[in-house]
Amino acid sequence: MTDRKTEKPGAEFNDRMLVQLARDQRERSYAKYSDFTVGASVVGESGKAYFGCNIENASYPVGICAERTAVATAIAHGERKITSLALAGGKRDELPDSKIRPCGMCLQFLSEFMDPDAVILIADGDSGFESFTLSELFPHAFNLKANERDDDND
Ligand code: THU
Repeated sequence: MTDRKTEKPGAEFNDRMLVQLARDQRERSYAKYSDFTVGASVVGESGKAYFGCNIENASYPVGICAERTAVATAIAHGERKITSLALAGGKRDELPDSKIRPCGMCLQFLSEFMDPDAVILIADGDSGFESFTLSELFPHAFNLKANERDDDND
């Protein structure tokens, strides 16, 4: 387990707590079709934590991932910056699988609200976790500026 300490002094949630909150949130997953339950927790710049789980749908592509549910909840509560995210997912009733990563759509969604060096924690087994930065998982986010790079008027 990488033990990257990026928490601000005095922050209410440390990495281990945030991962535990994501693990707990798996209980709320609505994964009727895949039986793959995912929980996510995020911390906003206010220092408050918000939660999400995957929510599936009979029309499969309509379902939403845990990461986007958590970030959407934070934004709807007035946050505009997410400083860290923890993710716990795996087959229902099994321990979290450390090999899961946020999907491409979630990474693009996260890049709107997280800085490249913001931390993403992935739960591993019964109590561990791995730590990444957003830029490690998603080095080349789409943004309108990059799209305009070839223009001379930026
Ligand atoms: N899922 C997430 O919630 N987050 C991820 O990072 C990967 C996948 C969900 C989507 C779907 O409900 C289930 O896991 C299986 O793909």
